[in-house]
Amino acid sequence: MNQATVHHLISSKAKEKNPDSLFELRLAANLGLIQQLFHSLYPEEKHSKAFDKLLKLLPKLFASRPEELKLQDLARIKSGNWYQSEKMVGMQLYVEHFNKDLKGLQEKLPYLKDLGVNFLHLMPITPRPKGENDGGYAVNAYYGVAKQYGTAKDLMALTEELRKQNMFLMLDFVVNHTSDEFQWAKKAKAGDKKYQDFYYTYGDDVIPKEFEKSLPEVFPETSPGNFTYIPEMERWVMTVFNSYQWDLNYTNPEVFLEMLTNLVKMVNQGVDVVRFDALAFLWKKMGTISQNLPEAHQLISLFRMCLQVAAPGTIFLAEAIVAPLEIVKYFGEESRRGNECEIAYNASLMALLWNSIATKKTLLLYKSLTSVPEKPQDCTWINYVRCHDDIGLGYEDRFIQEIGWNPHQHRKFLLDYYCQRLDWSPSTGLLFMYNPKTEDGRITGSGASLLGLEKALKENDSKLIEAAVSKIIMLHGIILSFGGIPMIYAGDEIGTLNDYSFLKDEAKKDDSRWVNRPKQDWNIISKLSGKESPQSKIFNTIKRLIAIRKKHPFFADDNNLQLLHTGNDHVLAFERSGKQQKGLLVLCNFDEKPQVIESRWMLKLGYFSKGDPINLVSGEKIIFSSGLLRIKPFEIIWLKKG
Ligand code: GLC
Repeated sequence: MNQATVHHLISSKAKEKNPDSLFELRLAANLGLIQQLFHSLYPEEKHSKAFDKLLKLLPKLFASRPEELKLQDLARIKSGNWYQSEKMVGMQLYVEHFNKDLKGLQEKLPYLKDLGVNFLHLMPITPRPKGENDGGYAVNAYYGVAKQYGTAKDLMALTEELRKQNMFLMLDFVVNHTSDEFQWAKKAKAGDKKYQDFYYTYGDDVIPKEFEKSLPEVFPETSPGNFTYIPEMERWVMTVFNSYQWDLNYTNPEVFLEMLTNLVKMVNQGVDVVRFDALAFLWKKMGTISQNLPEAHQLISLFRMCLQVAAPGTIFLAEAIVAPLEIVKYFGEESRRGNECEIAYNASLMALLWNSIATKKTLLLYKSLTSVPEKPQDCTWINYVRCHDDIGLGYEDRFIQEIGWNPHQHRKFLLDYYCQRLDWSPSTGLLFMYNPKTEDGRITGSGASLLGLEKALKENDSKLIEAAVSKIIMLHGIILSFGGIPMIYAGDEIGTLNDYSFLKDEAKKDDSRWVNRPKQDWNIISKLSGKESPQSKIFNTIKRLIAIRKKHPFFADDNNLQLLHTGNDHVLAFERSGKQQKGLLVLCNFDEKPQVIESRWMLKLGYFSKGDPINLVSGEKIIFSSGLLRIKPFEIIWLKKG
């Protein structure tokens, strides 16, 4: 039975005002798969008690859900997939950089509403170690609030207010690892065998060395290797990310049960979407790269099926920054199609957009995206330009080769282009985790700086400023129209530049991702309605595009996206055609010169049947000359069928 059918059955049977009926219905729908997944992950006889524990745990978890949230679950199940709506527009932000703390954030809700944002992703707010803590991704607790953000009460007040304003909240669940100060890690260090088994710990380095033969390194510059020796415990522990982030051992079902409990406590604070952090890494197997393993998928599905029973209105976002063909698998495959995460980051689109900016061409984007199978009907993307992390260059070599480029040289070019190694490039990005031996690396920098605004402002070059502003608007126009939830990175709506202050902070200076974790500039924001500046142009255009998106149902994600070939390599074209609705054609020029495309195929699609159509972005009529349509440098056109 697919998710839509289950949804339908549940919504028709769930009694009007009795949310408790949801538990029985969900359990009945999910139990078969829960059982199958659990036994497949934990087949040994010794684990049968753990399954009994799970069966006892589920009703307790549901009972712990606040009544108000249960009522909301019921309403959501009846109203369908809110997360695919054209009304959804997100913003990712660091609470402390946005406006000091949770209370400060709440004060700024009118700003977000004015822009049109109704979905917030708050970067980790849970307790973490002092000093280095990977921006809060080293967790000392899975729920509650670190002092610097305020109190648990402040969080409850915020989530209550968000519900009142019909806004949605996403928080991280750092499911793959804890900090080395987490209570389990502390007990493990003190010699408690039970908790040593919550992690991958070893008395000598024999097994770690075997693992290392096939494990890649996530942070080779700052945290080489995948294991750390802990003198207090006289054991090695697996630390795939930083040495202070201990990987949880999910081959132990007790870890799953405890983490499920933590997850439910976290969402019961009023969380709508769980960002399942680094989920590709959840299962480890010697001799493999220990990413995207089938068991990781089963485990995610098991979490999902159980969370649906315990907190039926909450959904999952997959943070799988992996190859395009691997990402779609996190929506669930075959018998589990639609049974893993409802949302996934469209990391492929993001990385391909950056490739298109640097090369001014869209061929690699077409080749890569058209090779990916269609996602399930009930699932959607988060489309984004920038986030707090680096930009990886994980394109498929075969597609780069098909275009006639050398994959190694091409990646080197992208690093050179973005990371200030080419005089003529407008970009002022920084290298991240560069390995001089292999010349591999990743890119960091704020969206505006990567797109040339920093250099243009410094040189006071009005043409370059205009080009950078157009590029910023074009990329945001794409994420607003591509199908899925657009997620704006706080500050990008006003063209925020790189923030170099991290270089002065001992705990941050070695992690160049901090260059793109800036403070929200309320001084600039206070002047947005004044005279035209690059910032006000960016803000006011993005705001206008958001308002347009919200007015037209074809922006809702109904798997109604089709990439179209225009015959011009500089142009990206796609159509969003609602089933019974009128469609939208999106055209973008990645070149610094005007480009033309033939109008014949647009006529065939029915875009010019009644007079000259309007470009929703500029508000102007589209004019043809000699059967050709001209697109300005870095222009985005939203063409609505007449
Ligand atoms: C995710 C986060 C990243 C963090 C990593 C380890 O990828 O986005 O910032 O470093 O997980 O938790």
